[in-house]
Amino acid sequence: MGKRPIIIDTDPGQDDAMAILLALGSPELDVLGITCVAGNTRLPAVIRNARIICELANRPEVRIFAGCDRPMVRDLQTAEHVHGPTGLDGPQWDEPTMPVEEQHAVDWLVDTLLAAEEPITLCPIGPLTNIAMAMIREPLIIPKIKEVVSMGGGYFVGGNVTPAAEFNIYVDPHAADVVYRSGVPLVAMPLDVTHKALMTREWLADMGQIPGKLGHHIAAMLNYYQKFDIDRYDEYGGPVHDPATVAYLLRPELFSGKDCFVQIETQSEVTMGMTVVDYWGARGQDANCTWIHEVDADGFFALMLERISSLAA
Ligand code: RIB
Ligand code: CA
Repeated sequence: MGKRPIIIDTDPGQDDAMAILLALGSPELDVLGITCVAGNTRLPAVIRNARIICELANRPEVRIFAGCDRPMVRDLQTAEHVHGPTGLDGPQWDEPTMPVEEQHAVDWLVDTLLAAEEPITLCPIGPLTNIAMAMIREPLIIPKIKEVVSMGGGYFVGGNVTPAAEFNIYVDPHAADVVYRSGVPLVAMPLDVTHKALMTREWLADMGQIPGKLGHHIAAMLNYYQKFDIDRYDEYGGPVHDPATVAYLLRPELFSGKDCFVQIETQSEVTMGMTVVDYWGARGQDANCTWIHEVDADGFFALMLERISSLAA
């Protein structure tokens, strides 16, 4: 079986970093490119962070593209209060030297999907602005998308930015609405599942034991990142949201959920960005996504340790 071609659309972000490292450490996947979007922090910092992460993985050949620097309609809201002023706080990073591609991420997404001989999997782990703009610009890309596995949303556990909305959807609800209405095969990896896999002291210690800068910087990065969640939820261990999307591609059996009809709130300021999941089919609408809400947390963390350790070899 050949490698699975994927594109990671991201707003690094410490948990984005773990998703990128997991993908680069997994030989089943062919990371065609990383497209950057404004979210956790502003676009220039997001691009810098993506370059830092690829160099940490010793993969400076990965193609990195700059995408949208603001949501489709609303003003950009960032999350430096979670991720730090740089968006990737924790370790002392060296400034990256690897290049950024000239082409805009949205144009590259359209060109790459239209030219693809086999459908490509998209892993958006930030606001969906780039993905939606590509779909609007060229709807013919939709049949060239194998699957979108998107970290975003929350239903049974509510939101993490407002009581109703999760950050990625809240920042650009109009983009999320485009993607959820597009008909693309969609797997949602929401807070309902990511909050069932919290980091443990033992796992963090094991990650810190990965030889060299890789282990040291991952431990420093994640220890910084989980402070917000530990303070808010008053329990040890933060959720590592974004790598759940890549883990799903590698070992889907670690996850389970239900095909559901999901709508995105784009009108009310009270519930803006809410993923309204019709879990019991009350509306009788066809499902537009698989809503993941269960995970084998031990298997998920073991997979990250195994695959990311391989980058140190
Ligand atoms: O709500 C969690 C999501 O928002 C993650 O993707 C995190 O990186 C932030 O972008
Ligand atoms: Ca993210």
